[in-house]
Amino acid sequence: MTDTMKGLKRTHNCGELRIDDVDKEIILMGWVRRRRDHGGVTFVDLRDRHGITQVVFRPDVDKETHDRTALIRGEYVIAVRGTVSGRPEGTRNPIMPTGEIEVQAKELRILNNAGTPPFLIEEDVDVAEDTRLKYRYLDIRRKNLQGNLILRSNVAKAMRDYLYEQGFLEIETPFLTKSTPEGARDYLVPSRVNPGHFYALPQSPQLFKQLLMVGGYDRYFQIVRCFRDEDLRADRQPEFTQMDMELSFVDREDIFGIVEGMMASVFKEVLKIDVEIPFKRLTYDESLQRYGVDNPDMRFGLELTDVSDIFRGSDFKVFADAIEQGGVVKALNAKGCAGFSRKDMDNLTDLVKVYGAKGLAWLKCESGTWQSPIAKFLNDTDKVSLSNKLHVSDGDLLLMVADRVKITNEALGHLRLSISERLNLVKEGNFDFTWITDFPLLEYDDNEMRYVAMHHPFTAPMDDDIPRLKTDPDKVKAKAYDLVLNGSEVGGGSIRVHQSELQSTMFRILGIGKEEARAKFGFLLDALNYGAPPHGGIAIGLDRLIMILAGTDSIRDVIAFPKTQKATCLMTGAPSKVGGKQLTELSLKLDVVK
Ligand code: AMO
Ligand code: AMP
Repeated sequence: MTDTMKGLKRTHNCGELRIDDVDKEIILMGWVRRRRDHGGVTFVDLRDRHGITQVVFRPDVDKETHDRTALIRGEYVIAVRGTVSGRPEGTRNPIMPTGEIEVQAKELRILNNAGTPPFLIEEDVDVAEDTRLKYRYLDIRRKNLQGNLILRSNVAKAMRDYLYEQGFLEIETPFLTKSTPEGARDYLVPSRVNPGHFYALPQSPQLFKQLLMVGGYDRYFQIVRCFRDEDLRADRQPEFTQMDMELSFVDREDIFGIVEGMMASVFKEVLKIDVEIPFKRLTYDESLQRYGVDNPDMRFGLELTDVSDIFRGSDFKVFADAIEQGGVVKALNAKGCAGFSRKDMDNLTDLVKVYGAKGLAWLKCESGTWQSPIAKFLNDTDKVSLSNKLHVSDGDLLLMVADRVKITNEALGHLRLSISERLNLVKEGNFDFTWITDFPLLEYDDNEMRYVAMHHPFTAPMDDDIPRLKTDPDKVKAKAYDLVLNGSEVGGGSIRVHQSELQSTMFRILGIGKEEARAKFGFLLDALNYGAPPHGGIAIGLDRLIMILAGTDSIRDVIAFPKTQKATCLMTGAPSKVGGKQLTELSLKLDVVK
């Protein structure tokens, strides 16, 4: 049996009342966090998303109201009418924002009962994630997630405010559309009225934002959902959100300026932190050379050094052969790690093998001597060269991989991260932004035996490289850039191709035939013929950015209703089977492959 709200209107939230409010008659509504009985007096901590207020029920204030508190349990929803009073000396709680006051209750209404929750809302206890996702509405009552969602809302607002101030328009683009090639699989939606035809959910609004530029909307942004059917990881969801923007008559510097201004404004508004602008920059080539990856975490050193020179023609056949076959030998110096055990070395070797490396050679420098499984292959000159190149001192551990450039970089790039974690090299709370620039335009796909666009097919090549498109396409650089924050790719964009002819050339190089290009992107090629301005843009991965700001390593922690690694929603049960009638309407027949 529950009461109604009739005649009661909430006057304050549960985090709001202060000592200045003493003697005010107020009405609070919220969830029962806890009920305690103390010698005839009952205390209830009332919670909403704004905070917690202590409510006191005394039999001498209102006996009937006091007695009804026996009915309430944790998570019941109640309304309380009462008077604010200062807490007696000695019972004030300086940690709680409302800790100086309490509410003397005169009326209690039970607005709804609640079952015993499957996990405690208050306590910071670990709960299996499956349970949390199944009861997500309870999970998001918890402080942690609540903080993340509020942070997310504040960031979105700060971004919007900044961009509106800069003269941007917020414009929506379709979800039911045609495939855009961002490199993942599409989610398809069957059309009932066009049997056998499908919409694709957008992997990004890429083509539409370019068409907005053709339409004359020179500064566009949108906080928009994108859908990609790809293998999920800790920082990937099948539907995720981009802060997407596009600008006309700009070059790379204009876009960097806007994004830097936006980030500085977000960090100032939301976190009260001054981030240093302009951001650092690193070319793609230099990033791979020094860090092995194109999303380098630059909060610590441990850089990679190419030592191929030292091992060219070496007696250690593995290294000499790798170089002979066009590969490299690279090393990193794990300072002070000579004490790593045999088992540590085995673990590190297993790690590089995940990235295709065949082994991990190590050298320990202890008491002036080198210890290593490959020591016998090193003469004194080699040792001096290594020592000088990698600034080796006593107690250091050198780790080396010899392989094809790509494998060597990836293996050591990840090894670098693992070692930094183990040595605790990263200071938390630092925000380190870097632009990665000058990406290659194309990448050879060994499986498909053709070039694919490294960013997407609408990215412009560097002007000076255009003539090389036909002769050596793999040397062509793109007007593309990524934004990396603390070793995570939080954004990517480019200056686009705005001429129909060059766009057609791009399609040709990517092995997209004339007819296919017409069928898939005819509307773009047409539009580029009707006065397309030079334009470019970027998309910031909002979820990833919030993850970093919130200091969590799971993207699910910053999304109200996320999906699991298997792209399911444990709360709603999506995806689910549909009935025969629905399938018939859609002209679909299932033939599920087991
Ligand atoms: P891109 O594909 O690089 O560029 O995506 C931009 C940013 O979106 C984030 N992101 C993701 N976040 C969570 N889950 C995912 N599955 C996921 N995939 C990508 C990343 C990434 O940097 N249209 C272009 C942008 C442009 O050229 O303007 C695009 O979508 O942080
Ligand atoms: P082996 O001669 O195969 O016993 O290898 C000697 C050491 O070199 C071992 O520590 C191996 O892990 C390491 N090693 C083997 N192949 C490579 C490679 N391609 N790159 C780096 N180290 C390697």
